[in-house]
Amino acid sequence: MKKKADNIPPAQRAAVKAKIPSYQREFYSWLYESPRLTRWLDHQRLLNVLTFGASGKMLKSCANEIPVSSDVLQMGATFGDQIGTAAARVGIYGHYDLLDVSMVQLRHQRNKYCYLFPFMRFINGDAAEQPKRQYDVVICYMLLHEVPSGTRAQIVNNALNCVKPGGKVIFVDYNNSPVWHPLRWLVKMFNRLYQPFAEKLWHNEIKNYARSPSGYYWRKTTFFGRMYQKVTAVRKESLY
Ligand SMILES: C[S@@+](CC[C@H](N)C(=O)[O-])C[C@H]1O[C@@H](n2cnc3c(N)ncnc32)[C@H](O)[C@@H]1O
Repeated sequence: MKKKADNIPPAQRAAVKAKIPSYQREFYSWLYESPRLTRWLDHQRLLNVLTFGASGKMLKSCANEIPVSSDVLQMGATFGDQIGTAAARVGIYGHYDLLDVSMVQLRHQRNKYCYLFPFMRFINGDAAEQPKRQYDVVICYMLLHEVPSGTRAQIVNNALNCVKPGGKVIFVDYNNSPVWHPLRWLVKMFNRLYQPFAEKLWHNEIKNYARSPSGYYWRKTTFFGRMYQKVTAVRKESLY
């Protein structure tokens, strides 16, 4: 008789071993634990086609928020040119820590960037756990819509807490697009099928997840007919 573990697909089995959070194991391990699919999807041109060009605009807008030579933490790896564009902006006098729960994603990013950006570090860890030190800039790019609400609140607050006074957190993610948006219903259908936590983010502002929102200056910009948002939170400096 076949053992129960034999019925689990190899990508999911690897995810269980690597202490990957249950939401990722359940819904995304087919993608993030598969080196082949990761290689296949990791192309900026493909992302531009899928997002009607919005992806390229958002990643540039995110990179433009980063002061040169900053000490940066990114929570969660991304496909395409987002990390490369942000790291190029940071430059050789800065630091760039890339944190991800998936070793498959980290290995892929390390192969892609370790020679190009020697100031990058690839850290296996969970953004829902408090980071060990403080940074000038924290980037949370298209991560929040993939996680359940409780984890989302933890990630938002960890990002806000680990930024230095005067430093900045940059969130880029889905936004609640208007009802007339031609792709709203297509995206809604896709989310219901493949990204079960994404719709909750439509109905709650990122700022509302913060425990002490008044400690930060907030700014929100939208892209592609309000389909996507970039929210920046700059930590207020103490007057004393
Ligand atoms: C940041 S999102 C990127 C989504 C989309 N694929 C993109 O490229 O825009 C996906 C990444 O976040 C990672 N991830 C998911 N939950 C995480 C968590 N709690 N802490 C750190 N990384 C996480 C996944 O392993 C994956 O590499």
